Amino acid sequence: MVKINRRQFIIFSTAGAGAALVGKTRTSYSQPLPESPVSFASLHQSSNGLLELDLEAKENLVNLGGGQAYLLTYNGQVPAPRLEAKPGDQVRIHFTNNLDQPTNLHYHGLHIPPTGNADNVFLRINPGEKFTYEFEIAQDQSAGTFWYHPHLHGLVAEQLFGGLAGLFIVRGELDEIPGIKAAPEEFLVLQDFSLDEGGRRFSSMHMSLMMGREGDLIAVNGKINPSFSIPTQGLLRLRILNASPSRFYRLSLEDHSFYQIATDGNSLNQPIEVKELLLTPGQRADVLVKGNQEPGEYRLLNLPYDRGSMGMMGGRGMMGGRGMMGRNERDVPIVLARLNYESTVKSLSLPTQLTALSKLPEPQTVRRLELNHGMSPAVGMAFLINGQPYLGDRLDTSVKLNSIEDWEIVNTGVMDHPFHIHVNSFQVISRNGIPESLLAWRDTVLVPRGETVRIRIRFEDFVGKTVYHCHILDHEDLGMMGNLMINA
Ligand code: C2O
Ligand code: CU
Ligand code: CU
Repeated sequence: MVKINRRQFIIFSTAGAGAALVGKTRTSYSQPLPESPVSFASLHQSSNGLLELDLEAKENLVNLGGGQAYLLTYNGQVPAPRLEAKPGDQVRIHFTNNLDQPTNLHYHGLHIPPTGNADNVFLRINPGEKFTYEFEIAQDQSAGTFWYHPHLHGLVAEQLFGGLAGLFIVRGELDEIPGIKAAPEEFLVLQDFSLDEGGRRFSSMHMSLMMGREGDLIAVNGKINPSFSIPTQGLLRLRILNASPSRFYRLSLEDHSFYQIATDGNSLNQPIEVKELLLTPGQRADVLVKGNQEPGEYRLLNLPYDRGSMGMMGGRGMMGGRGMMGRNERDVPIVLARLNYESTVKSLSLPTQLTALSKLPEPQTVRRLELNHGMSPAVGMAFLINGQPYLGDRLDTSVKLNSIEDWEIVNTGVMDHPFHIHVNSFQVISRNGIPESLLAWRDTVLVPRGETVRIRIRFEDFVGKTVYHCHILDHEDLGMMGNLMINA
């Protein structure tokens, strides 16, 4: 038997009384979240080869699971509007920063230029300023689940924890495979929050930044414990995004396996059956679920995961208010959502072949990157790559366009670090010297404490400066990031 954490329900039955949406935002942007069991962020799809929209970052009062919360939103919504485009499309986003802090946008996982008005994380858009992002989705961009979020160094964790994150879906080859095409699709954006009784976010003063901030109010598409339906005898496709700044999700669906068809934004060769799905911050998974059990209700659980801690500093996410959590509650499964069987369909079988992928050839260069934490003369306690905290104007790694490199990422610290590289995806070659059997493209990989992961990457199509970093965003803000220059 699985124990359920009931605290979230108790919290909301008291805090949610008399909740009403306040119409502070422009009506063209804001929509109250629907009262139906499943909520969808609004959708912007490309048409005639163009995806164009206005996107405004601002604090907004939103309805979060029956309670009110002052969150940071894009277009008034948490999660942000879902964007959808196809290979070859042009994307134009008219962005306005109405936060009280500078910010910018990053398109996590997309293979687009890191420069100019594309995926440029060095831009700083001040409060009140506007900026138009514009780029093209390449013809050979993999179809998959990508996302967008702020990326201004020093403020990334805080702004993500406020709610700023949305899906960016590229539709293509994978979506046309029979079995996948016929399966209904749900989008699970996993976010955690920590709010006081009045629905206000705790200031970062109250948070365990070294550990990485976690809130224990977990929302799935901005809903607490929503329900999804699966056709009896059919398939359901879930696209799952961990949009939390630090929390890991170790997902399990009662009496069901997940048949994973994509890692991050890339198809696998064949579906693989997994009982548990571990998603670190930044990672995505596309999975199929088979509706072949007794019709009924099944819970999607988040199982406990120990990502290490720094002795006295770790262990607890935060304290006080709606976000309070006792020590023991960290160690029990939490119900995230429920799956309900609906009417029978003509039975659908799993696809056997997905999009073909092949292994990258041998590398020309091998590098070693060591992840750890320690004292830095410049900033005090910091998170480090090769002994150094991030410095905006230092170039850490220079590579050549079209070259292939192996990066041996060694975690010599006491906490797990999910390692992420912008612009180009990579393949995991080995873990602790043991060759990786699963061939997959990823943009974020977990490097557990004490372990070594070797990845292979080809720097394709785009030159310019970009970054790699730990996707526990407090670690990134506290220094665990490096500048990468891709030279012609
Ligand atoms: Cu979601 Cu630099 O990353
Ligand atoms: Cu990224
Ligand atoms: Cu980290």
